[in-house]
Amino acid sequence: MELRIAAMRWLATEIIGVELVALDGSVLPPFDAGAHIDVHLPGALIRQYSLCNHPDERHRYCIGVLKDAASRGGSRAVHDQLRVGQTVQVSAPRNLFALQGGAGRSVLLAGGIGITPMLSMAQRLAQQGRDFELHYCVRSKGRAAFIDTLHNSAFAAQVHLHVDDGAAQQKLDMAGVLAAQDDQAHLYVCGPTGFMEHVLNSARAHQWPEARLHREYFAAAPRAEGDAGSFEVRLRSTGLQVLVPADKTVVQALEEAGVFIPVSCEQGFCGTCLTAVLGGQPDHRDSFLTDAEKARNNQFTPCCSRAKSAVLELDL
Ligand code: FES
Repeated sequence: MELRIAAMRWLATEIIGVELVALDGSVLPPFDAGAHIDVHLPGALIRQYSLCNHPDERHRYCIGVLKDAASRGGSRAVHDQLRVGQTVQVSAPRNLFALQGGAGRSVLLAGGIGITPMLSMAQRLAQQGRDFELHYCVRSKGRAAFIDTLHNSAFAAQVHLHVDDGAAQQKLDMAGVLAAQDDQAHLYVCGPTGFMEHVLNSARAHQWPEARLHREYFAAAPRAEGDAGSFEVRLRSTGLQVLVPADKTVVQALEEAGVFIPVSCEQGFCGTCLTAVLGGQPDHRDSFLTDAEKARNNQFTPCCSRAKSAVLELDL
């Protein structure tokens, strides 16, 4: 879709809000809480941004973008090159971070810019009268986007702000948060990878099953680089066999052979390139699949993952 930038406004230090509307003012495809859109940016970049407005709104998509010092170009392009009145290409909303059903409490944990999907989720949960609490961790108050929206909301009492440079007693007590939940609760986390790893590892240490842990990465999770040796991929449909050298990804090697796999983040966190594996053993290097999904070895992310076996047969 080609959408027009209707408004841009500062939400907090280094965070800008962008409001996108249809060129003719018509309604946009619906989305539910946790959904994101792919935004095509100057420089042929494609980046994913969570929708942060109320999921019942059909007249606009709202995103919040942090100007990231370690930007690979996406956040800088939004801040420095996008302006009100311009048009941008975006995908239809996709939801890889959906709220689960059930009566249990939803525990939302947002770190910094990870508040964007959580804001939409909190609004949906409040609208449905479901039990939830939102923990919002920021480095300082000036970096907390949507703070007025949250404080003025009908669910303000369920919002807990934790500021790194604030008093010790208001800081996030992850063990305490986890201990206060029953075995029906679901945990949702989004934010910087270090924050997410802390939350998820704390939950695992408290015996939370993976089925009740939900996360959305904005960037690749840190990982120890394994051996990046060469291997071959074979396509089930044609039998084509392609060598993947150590200095190329599966996506790149296949592209040179005329086989195109759609990609977006190219870092293993969005799931766009997910491909079924019919034989061989993948070397999973993504943060998109859960550990249980990885253990099944029946799919992998060819933008970054490799192979432990000499040959990987793909359902392509
Ligand atoms: S392109 Fe995002 S996971 Fe591969």
